[in-house]
Amino acid sequence: MLLPVVNVILFCVYATVCLCRGQGTINLPKSSSVPAVLAFGDSFLDTGNNNYITTLGKANFLPYGKDFMGGKPTGRFSNGKNIADFFGVKEYLPAYLDPSLQVNDLLTGVSFASGGSGYDPLTNNISLAISPLDQLNLFKQYIGNLTTMVGEEAVMNIMNNSVFIVCVSTNDLIISLPARSLQDDVLTYDRMLVNLTLSFVQQLYELGARRIGVFSAPPVGCFPAERTLFGGVLRKCVQKENEASQLYNSMLKEQLPLLGSSLPQSKIAFVDFYNPLISVINNPQQYGLDVIDRGCCGTGLLEVVFLCNRLSPTCLDDSKFFFWDSIHLTEIGCNIFVNQTLPGLVNSLL
Ligand SMILES: *[C@@H]1O[C@H](CO)[C@@H](O)[C@H](O)[C@H]1NC(C)=O
Ligand SMILES: *[C@@H]1O[C@H](CO)[C@@H](O)[C@H](O)[C@H]1NC(C)=O
Ligand SMILES: *[C@@H]1O[C@H](CO)[C@@H](O)[C@H](O)[C@H]1NC(C)=O
Ligand SMILES: *[C@@H]1O[C@H](CO)[C@@H](O)[C@H](O)[C@H]1NC(C)=O
Ligand SMILES: *[C@@H]1O[C@H](CO)[C@@H](O)[C@H](O)[C@H]1NC(C)=O
Repeated sequence: MLLPVVNVILFCVYATVCLCRGQGTINLPKSSSVPAVLAFGDSFLDTGNNNYITTLGKANFLPYGKDFMGGKPTGRFSNGKNIADFFGVKEYLPAYLDPSLQVNDLLTGVSFASGGSGYDPLTNNISLAISPLDQLNLFKQYIGNLTTMVGEEAVMNIMNNSVFIVCVSTNDLIISLPARSLQDDVLTYDRMLVNLTLSFVQQLYELGARRIGVFSAPPVGCFPAERTLFGGVLRKCVQKENEASQLYNSMLKEQLPLLGSSLPQSKIAFVDFYNPLISVINNPQQYGLDVIDRGCCGTGLLEVVFLCNRLSPTCLDDSKFFFWDSIHLTEIGCNIFVNQTLPGLVNSLL
């Protein structure tokens, strides 16, 4: 009885998707019009912050990073680059907590994201991640430090023109929704998540952010771990979980523009993190992929975070796999997602 519960927690705590970059990447335009990209959220955007905190949600050991700069684990939950890197205006988006950061790194963007993070306080209590609100506190510190270093005018330019990306909700849906035994009242839970999302975005705006892309929930029921645990013998996508994502997404998509219109000078975009992934899962061949129902690490059925480690054999060709571990995307998976998403985002924010 306990084991499945523990498993659920282990697998789900660390929803990091790695949108990583292979050859042929598009990033946001490297121009003065977008000086920096700043990322907030969970393991999909964490580029190493969890290396510096006490949590089981880490990825700073092989085979994580096996294709990153020749085989360097950095805390990205992927074989290579992740989504945050692809969105950046530079090759890699560094983690804010990395003590080796220089002024120029801060000026061109960092990630505040933390694997396991969620809007629901319960999620962070379970995962011990840096909560979104604590990420905002780090952001305040960032603004303060940067102002000391380069002055108010330069910081104002960054605030006015940078792109802020926010990707949270996954851990709430896979950890806290089941833990709160609200399965039968998904609507109430999703409403609460939408409220917390809007409140987060508003606080980010109040700190100075103007161009903000807010990720929807992904199709969590199709993550390999969820298929294994709840998808039956055939390991189908867990419909109930996908429906919880879709309900949150539909309400968020409706509410975000209303919030945006109440915040002067803001451009707030809904970033669809659901349909692009479903499209790949339904037609992998169309994207040059072969395997979408298990990860490359180990058996691919359950391995994630410390269960995906040096002792785990990996698949022969991770460029044919959509998922790297049982929750997170491969670099190529990340690349495919960002390729589908970035043009629309540029259109809405710039
Ligand atoms: C992503 O887009 C770039 C530029 O259009 C292209 O060269 C590359 O092949 C694409 N990569 C993937 C994995 O779709
Ligand atoms: C999270 O933990 C804090 C400190 O232990 C506690 O005060 C709070 O009630 C917890 N919140 C939830 C939702 O469990
Ligand atoms: C940023 O400011 C905080 C205090 O607000 C300080 O502890 C920290 O060392 C500073 N970091 C840098 C890189 O200056
Ligand atoms: C930032 O935007 C505000 C409001 O539009 C404007 O007053 C200010 O001059 C801008 N500052 C910079 C440096 O872009
Ligand atoms: C969400 O916010 C709305 C408007 O502020 C409020 O009426 C509603 O009760 C909130 N719902 C939940 C579940 O927190």
